[in-house]
Amino acid sequence: MPKVVFHKAGETQTSDVPDNANLVVRAGIRQFPFPYLRYQCGMGKCATCACRVLAGAEHLPPPNWKEKKQLGERLEQGYRLVCQLWLTHDLELEQEA
Ligand code: FES
Repeated sequence: MPKVVFHKAGETQTSDVPDNANLVVRAGIRQFPFPYLRYQCGMGKCATCACRVLAGAEHLPPPNWKEKKQLGERLEQGYRLVCQLWLTHDLELEQEA
């Protein structure tokens, strides 16, 4: 069970999530990281869900074309679109307030 640490606005939330969890889907059904995670389309089109990965990036798949298109240079700063990620390992994230 992946453990997710989520930082936003100076607060830290921590929770276990099921294997292969998608955090936008989880928030959509009012599970962690609801209500903290900001998101919109859930389809890689808006970049509202962008978060910077602080730990665990090595376990994530390479960015897909939607992430490359939406994030551009922010990819190099460690940003990912969490609606495009299905988690199998621990992850620490930060979303700008
Ligand atoms: S919620 Fe729109 S890109 Fe992730």
